[in-house]
Amino acid sequence: MAAAVRDTQPYSTGISYPLPISIKEFHRLEEQVICLADLMGRTTHAPIPPKPSILLDIGCGTGAVTCYLGHAHPTAHVYGIDLSPVPNFHPKPPNVTYIQGDAHDISVLDPRLVPGTADLAFARLLICGIRDWLACISDMRDMMKPGAWIESQELNASVFDSSGRNIDDEMEWVRVMRQAMAMVENGLDPDAGSNVKRCMEEAGLVDVQSHVFRRPVGTWLADEEPGTKRVGEYDGKEMWTPMAVVLDELAVGKGRYGIDEVEELKRQMRRDMKPKVKGEKGVHFVFTVTLDLVTKQETITNDRPNYTPHVNSQSTPHPNPTLPPSLPTYPHNPTYATLSSLNHQTTPNATTLHPSARPDPTRNPNK
Ligand SMILES: C[S@@+](CC[C@H](N)C(=O)[O-])C[C@H]1O[C@@H](n2cnc3c(N)ncnc32)[C@H](O)[C@@H]1O
Repeated sequence: MAAAVRDTQPYSTGISYPLPISIKEFHRLEEQVICLADLMGRTTHAPIPPKPSILLDIGCGTGAVTCYLGHAHPTAHVYGIDLSPVPNFHPKPPNVTYIQGDAHDISVLDPRLVPGTADLAFARLLICGIRDWLACISDMRDMMKPGAWIESQELNASVFDSSGRNIDDEMEWVRVMRQAMAMVENGLDPDAGSNVKRCMEEAGLVDVQSHVFRRPVGTWLADEEPGTKRVGEYDGKEMWTPMAVVLDELAVGKGRYGIDEVEELKRQMRRDMKPKVKGEKGVHFVFTVTLDLVTKQETITNDRPNYTPHVNSQSTPHPNPTLPPSLPTYPHNPTYATLSSLNHQTTPNATTLHPSARPDPTRNPNK
């Protein structure tokens, strides 16, 4: 077993994060990395400037994306930041360093993280760990230098049918899960994926773009969007685990529901979702990619306690003259993407997962 990772251990950073640190969870994350690369046709979207110096992977999990960035950008130093120790799943390139700590404190976490120096802040799937998205995004903004990118890839804790209609209200367990998330101390945001854009704008970033992918449960969308096949199969078999844990930890653990009530909700979840996994059409989650090119005006203010955005994106459209022509033009009003529509937009530095960042199925990280 990897020295730093026992099978389920508490976090030492004082932040309560509902999902476990366990070998099983790390394997779940590893598989998800590959599924998401298939879904999006790439791993990251931001066209990172040539010869970047510092890249941040915030909430880096198993380090799959961190190592991918390290290989893809050998001139850069890549910092993977996570509440938990990062397991030794990937051979770590020499330009990768992991820092254990909380994404709410990036700018004060470590002397190597110097405000105004980073070329990319990448943050994926932090819906269960961020209690103050505006503060986190403001912190990311403060870390950036002009011409840098902030990229978020995030879920909502909501279920949609094939027509895109939100069906949370038809499923009691979804309602409870969302309430439980919002009601933990300081509150998680069950709609983080779709709210990141607004948070970025509130943090003073302009020309923020977002793009929504359908993340199906089961393979019902695979003929139309082949990139959804793997993630559909994955969500069909794996989605119970994180959602059941959220119900256990946040609904029972915080004393809002009894164990029996939550066991019944978990049974409802299976009853509601199983037919969809097996082929009844149309249930999906939404997975939103949000990105922004940070301009000079938007960079460091260092006065976060008194911070007021100095650009009002409502009334002052910002021409953003430094936007590179290769920037993928994601729709401002997100619509559902097909893989092919994204592939038509060329982003030279945004590529699919580097082979060395892929988990090696023959390798047993317990050894
Ligand atoms: C669902 S995993 C996603 C990991 C990785 N980003 C990926 O896409 O595979 C979320 C990770 O974020 C970390 N995390 C959650 N909240 C965090 C916080 N406030 N600060 C730092 N890391 C956090 C967790 O420890 C976990 O490793």
